[in-house]
Amino acid sequence: MRIVLGVTGGIAAYKAAELARQLVRNGHEITVVMTKGAEEFIRPLTFASLTGRKVITDLFSSASPDATLSSAVEHIGVAREHDLLLVAPATADVLAKFAHGLADDFLSTLYLAFDGPVVLAPAMNDRMWSHAAVRENVAVLRGRGHALVEPGDGYLACGTVGPGRLAESEKIVAAVEDALRKRRTDLVGQTILITAGPTREPVDPVRYISNRSSGKMGYALAEAALARGARVLLVSGPVNLQPPARAEVEQVQTAAEMRDAVFAHLFEATVVIKCAAVADFRPATPSAQKIKKTSADRTLELVPVPDILAELGDGPRNFILVGFAAETENLLDYARRKLEGKNCDMIVANRVGGDGSAFESESNEVLLVLRNGETIPVDRAPKRVVADHIFDQIVKLGK
Ligand SMILES: Cc1cc2nc3c(=O)[nH]c(=O)nc-3n(C[C@H](O)[C@H](O)[C@H](O)COP(=O)(O)O)c2cc1C
Repeated sequence: MRIVLGVTGGIAAYKAAELARQLVRNGHEITVVMTKGAEEFIRPLTFASLTGRKVITDLFSSASPDATLSSAVEHIGVAREHDLLLVAPATADVLAKFAHGLADDFLSTLYLAFDGPVVLAPAMNDRMWSHAAVRENVAVLRGRGHALVEPGDGYLACGTVGPGRLAESEKIVAAVEDALRKRRTDLVGQTILITAGPTREPVDPVRYISNRSSGKMGYALAEAALARGARVLLVSGPVNLQPPARAEVEQVQTAAEMRDAVFAHLFEATVVIKCAAVADFRPATPSAQKIKKTSADRTLELVPVPDILAELGDGPRNFILVGFAAETENLLDYARRKLEGKNCDMIVANRVGGDGSAFESESNEVLLVLRNGETIPVDRAPKRVVADHIFDQIVKLGK
């Protein structure tokens, strides 16, 4: 496989040489990209000798006026031609750049142009590692599905003892091999229709009934499906999220609009995932004008909205149907009933309300309930990671 090894400016940069050697020995073709900081610790010649390839140190070096277009935008070419991006050691600085999308050198620019698996092996002083800013950046990167090879405990170059030492080379190589094995192309050829977020049912022109769904789980599913090679049709209720760039998005407000959008695209879908928290009821007669405040009590008459999942499950179909159950109690019981009642292939059950609620949260803990009676618990993890577990089961259902 073709691997980019990013080396950044930490004391442990010299250990990247041994790492490069091990990866070459495992049969990989290694392109080393060094930051300016890394060059303060180790010379490019070391990596060029070990990998037998040119070492990239500068974003602009190949962009001379007479360079061909492909060599002038080398970061895009390198991103396209490689199967995995490994950064070891990863400084606090590079973690922050990746987390926030800065692109002021070759490595950080390459990261934004790369859509394959990313493995990060941080190394830094123990206080730096435990700083809230670093913790937050690490959480963001984990949330994107990147593999983090945790630094080990031990004697640090700065003279202290604690967590922050670059993980052993064997551990980093194992994480790379694992990520390569899992490199997903198992959804190539699939068209996945995902609904996400809440719906809004108008009471009058300024008020509506909605719920606490943030859309994060549905958007994480869209990202995971795209990363595994699927085409994604995302029908989204109103959320404050940026949809993944390659998703084909239809924005809707009400349950009725969501139903129309789903059925308009259904003929294209091989998998339908109903992740949206669709309203169960809507005001019977939304007012055309803003309802004025009065001191009298007011009753709002509600009527049921179309049950999209039940409609999808009704009758023969040629797509896999996955529903979500958001419950505050009796999770498994309700999930099983929903699986049967709506004729789904799988229900993803998650708890909402109270501590650990799935709503408005970055992470989730779910139970996958299957038709054969099997239930598969997925431990709490960033929603992007949970999304991959869900697709692992969907891939099995399709076999
Ligand atoms: C002697 C020395 C050792 C350093 N070691 C580390 C380190 O282990 N981890 C880290 O995150 N930063 C370390 N730094 C700070 C980085 O070199 C600095 O943040 C730099 O801007 C990183 O740039 P880069 O991420 O582009 O390589 C060290 C700095 C010095 C002077």
